Amino acid sequence: MIDRSPDPSSLEPIERASIEQLRELQLSRLRWSLSHAYDNVPHYRRAFDAAGIGSGDIAALTDLAELSRFPFTAKADLRENYPFGMFAVPRSEVSRVHASSGTTGRPTVVGYTHEDVRTWAKLMARSLRAGGVRPSDIVHIAYGYGLFTGGLGAHYGAEELGCTVVPVSGGMTERQVMLIQDFEPDVIMVTPSYMLALVDELERQGIDPRSTSLKIGVFGAEPWTNDMRLEMERRLDLHAVDIYGLSEVMGPGVAMECVDTKDGLHVWEDHFYPEIIDPLTGEVLPDGQEGELVFTSLTKQAMPVIRYRTRDLTRLLPGTARPMRRIEKITGRTDDMIILRGVNLFPTQIEELILKIPALSPHFQCVLSRSGPLDELALRVERRHDASVAEGEQAGTELRTMVKNTIGVSVAVELLEPDSVERSLGKMRRIVDERPKR
Ligand code: DLL
Repeated sequence: MIDRSPDPSSLEPIERASIEQLRELQLSRLRWSLSHAYDNVPHYRRAFDAAGIGSGDIAALTDLAELSRFPFTAKADLRENYPFGMFAVPRSEVSRVHASSGTTGRPTVVGYTHEDVRTWAKLMARSLRAGGVRPSDIVHIAYGYGLFTGGLGAHYGAEELGCTVVPVSGGMTERQVMLIQDFEPDVIMVTPSYMLALVDELERQGIDPRSTSLKIGVFGAEPWTNDMRLEMERRLDLHAVDIYGLSEVMGPGVAMECVDTKDGLHVWEDHFYPEIIDPLTGEVLPDGQEGELVFTSLTKQAMPVIRYRTRDLTRLLPGTARPMRRIEKITGRTDDMIILRGVNLFPTQIEELILKIPALSPHFQCVLSRSGPLDELALRVERRHDASVAEGEQAGTELRTMVKNTIGVSVAVELLEPDSVERSLGKMRRIVDERPKR
């Protein structure tokens, strides 16, 4: 892999600021954002009033820690104000909306002013530069375009950085491979699970995945582990970097991993203030402790979010390559936590184990069922093309033992033929819940 560290002189001044400068900027932006929300969004006015907080209290804020007095915002609040009730500007000033699909019911709608779209593009350009992308690179975007923020978010950012953008969107896997071969992109932006499907397709067509022009993979929108990074880097001979974001807070580019350190994701704290809370009690936890990530937007105009509960589990760590704090790779979402006979487990833990077993392909699903009073978990895995049936069976037994020894629960392993586990075109459905509805 070639060195792709950005030239330090290309960084923005805030990426080289001191912590004190950063905190000062955050405090003044926080006051603005809180009063903007209070003055213009009925939901926030009601919620702040109910917590006994008025405009005077906001103006008097002298410490970022005082944010903990403010009420949380949850996805349900956005749903209740569907579609445009959380907007803080007249609808005519909203230049774009996106929405996150949600598996049931109404989507969650988010809005951006023209200025918000510009900020997003700049933050995505900053993210891409940190990830090792350079102006004049060709960038193949396989995140979905549409209401999902992945495609357009990546698109505007890559354009802003000065790249040549190939807006492919998700799907049509064979054609994706053709475009990679013909256009010779330097960078691919895609979910890690769909990248694996693209690797399979390259191999199916007899192309060595290490021989493509790709130098950087910007992978995000779903959890993936450091073992998966090693797997991707080995199979594709590229730098695999992690990008994080969520529609409610902006979209991709809220936090980004630096290619030179690959040690977690720097939160762009000049625009988003992070906290970690205990998901059960709501108590703010000190940096270093794992809990639920919460964000307060500091500059968003159309849809400020105050203490938005992401449901993502991680830890806050001090800055390294940048002054901004890092989040560790996301373990999973609180709603994706499987509780099996009292033991909590996440699909990312299963991913780590599967990647240690050479005869298994990295595609897998966790299937939950119930027989009698107890939940059962079956891991749906498949053997790799180059593994024999006997090797596959042995690998299945090995996986069951590893899960028992490291996580401490008994699971079943459903070993399938190569190419049998469902493939994703975007975010992979890791958990298949076949338990009867109560
Ligand atoms: O997934 C935005 C995005 C697009 C991020 C492209 C990165 C790349 P939503 O559809 O609103 O937005 O889903 C947000 O996806 O709360 C996490 O649970 C998960 N997620 C996003 N990025 C990561 C990541 C986009 N790098 C939800 N690691 C978030 C783990 C991620 N989970």
